[in-house]
Amino acid sequence: MNNFETFSIKPVPKINLKLNIPGDKSISHRSIILNSISNGKARVEGLVSGEDCISTIKIAQQLGCKIETKINDDGSSLECIVHGVGLEGFKKPAKVLDAGNSGTTTRLFAGLLVGRKFKSEITGDESLLKRPMGRIINPLSQMGAKIYSKDYNDKLPIIFDGGFLKGIIYNMPIASAQLKSALLLAGIRAEGKTVIQQPEISRNHTELMLSSMGASIEISEKTLNISQTEKIFPVDIKVPGDISSAAFWIVAGLCHPNANILLENIGINKTRSGILSILKSMGGKIEINNLKKVSGEDVADIYVRTSNLHSTIIEGEIIPLLIDEIPILAVAAAMAEGTTVIKDAKELKFKESDRIEATTNWLQNAGVNCEATNDGMVIEGTGRILGGEFDSQGDHRIAMSIGIAGLFSESPITVIDSKSVEISYPNFWNHISKL
Ligand code: S3P
Repeated sequence: MNNFETFSIKPVPKINLKLNIPGDKSISHRSIILNSISNGKARVEGLVSGEDCISTIKIAQQLGCKIETKINDDGSSLECIVHGVGLEGFKKPAKVLDAGNSGTTTRLFAGLLVGRKFKSEITGDESLLKRPMGRIINPLSQMGAKIYSKDYNDKLPIIFDGGFLKGIIYNMPIASAQLKSALLLAGIRAEGKTVIQQPEISRNHTELMLSSMGASIEISEKTLNISQTEKIFPVDIKVPGDISSAAFWIVAGLCHPNANILLENIGINKTRSGILSILKSMGGKIEINNLKKVSGEDVADIYVRTSNLHSTIIEGEIIPLLIDEIPILAVAAAMAEGTTVIKDAKELKFKESDRIEATTNWLQNAGVNCEATNDGMVIEGTGRILGGEFDSQGDHRIAMSIGIAGLFSESPITVIDSKSVEISYPNFWNHISKL
């Protein structure tokens, strides 16, 4: 029987679906965080109601920002009114801030909590406590922030204790949108100009939204300049469907022997949609229709059909453009003909779980010949995934990857620790149940 902790899926003969995918998690976070420091009121529609974004809303509220929320009928999305308090308007929180499972919440708020007149502390759940924070502590300290890892291990909890922020020139050692965003959000309040050089392009939602709010920001390829800004304006946002959640259904549609799936209003910003070009290059039948701009983001309908996939190499500058989709791309690789190699993706080790280990571990248990490497994995595609019970390691994207494989595996699949889908896609198991 299915319950919150495990979920069993039987292979289905046919998939014929049209789905409303919940709102983009990255844009949802930013629409709350950036509007919270604006001077005025904004309406955000289609915000994903997953636990990560709830952590963001709660922290903004604890910092004195009024946010009204209304949940939609199926509980998967929120409409919010955010009453911004201005760049310097946050109040000292009454207790330690809790980012739950969310790296984005932690790192973006870190950029905003530095250099305040009050002291604050942020922490998170067991998984977040293991994740690296030196990547933000070091450059923010260089900017003049008094920011410390409480246990001197470059991990959470982190304490913010004021400091005077000055712009710096920073060469980012990793292509991380969370690090870039932390620096932009500190840079907007820092004296002078902050210059950020990225090794590769990563998701650009923060810079797009900040520009639309009137921040003084220049973007040229991999370099960003932000100057101290007096105020930013609120912006109403319609959050598009999350391509990282749509990815599961895209792979389902391509790998299942009798499928067609339509996903409407999905954000296909080119800094996020590396998965589409990779799957097309693997032979995936993917159509992009009704392309439009919504709240400054590219949005389209994605239609996918059963395809004969073949192997590929995924490496280099495309990696940051599909980093969260690698667990489900690994499923596509297992179903494709030939050996797929994924390289340059060491960052996967520092996600909600070590996703190199978690992905290769469950695939091996499902009879797939694959191997973890230092910065990725090698997967021999045989077109077969066996059934059984597989552990998601409490990671939402691993749980959904296993769940999707259950739609075309040789026998039923049970996902252990299935509740984690609530982090980013609260109605995922309901969508699976439609079949
Ligand atoms: C995110 C950035 C990525 C991604 C994460 C969401 C964001 O992390 O993996 O799920 O919203 O900025 P990194 O910036 O650490 O690569």
